Amino acid sequence: MRQLIAGNWKMHGLSAQLAEIEAIGAARPTNCDILICPPATLIARAVERAKGLVPIGAQDCHAEASGAFTGDVSAEMLVDAGAVAVIVGHSERRQFHAESDAAVAQKARAAWRAGLLTIVCVGETQAERDDGRMLEVVARQIAASLPDGATVQNTTIAYEPVWAIGTGRTPTAAQIAEMHGHIRKLLIDRFATGRTMRILYGGSVKPSNANEILGIADVDGALVGGASLKAADFLAIAAAAAPP
Ligand code: 13P
Repeated sequence: MRQLIAGNWKMHGLSAQLAEIEAIGAARPTNCDILICPPATLIARAVERAKGLVPIGAQDCHAEASGAFTGDVSAEMLVDAGAVAVIVGHSERRQFHAESDAAVAQKARAAWRAGLLTIVCVGETQAERDDGRMLEVVARQIAASLPDGATVQNTTIAYEPVWAIGTGRTPTAAQIAEMHGHIRKLLIDRFATGRTMRILYGGSVKPSNANEILGIADVDGALVGGASLKAADFLAIAAAAAPP
């Protein structure tokens, strides 16, 4: 399967940063699939500037298609703006917006309803890993955040250990392999296409560690935060993806 290198810009990016998307498109990486998820304010213009060369996604959506939900954006609105994917259940949403597994599952269903590829994020905190509960925590998140009906076409998983996000710390290759193998087994047990559903790794991926991380069994790509903000770094990570 082709690896997917996805960039999550989080709450970064003004108009000037659209040039980075143009630069990524101009490089036309062909060894992997790519995706950039800018803030909602830039999605429509990012789609224009990407000229079809860089698929554009979003970072969150509301579960309803429309309604009295001030400040929220629906999956249908994201599609209307030209997005093809949406991240749901990122640990920053779970932490700062108190999103439960059940809320994440509703958002995943909304994304499917609108026809978006859904990137569902899971991952343990430092305390949960210290207690040796990481496999159990991620199993619960996979069970409760992923609705029945997940397929290789509509869903990608992102394993993002909370303690590795934005910290410069990454798990060892053995720790990543253990967790991705665990997630793979959970997906196979529950979904007909679980064997081929992509499992991305996220948390302090950068050009200097991309080669090692992307070479680990059951790592089908990366969800990149900080290093996705500069085209050169993002492209260096994409270049490290395994050829199809
Ligand atoms: P960093 O790559 O900045 O650690 O962020 C990872 C992340 O949260 C991507 O969704």
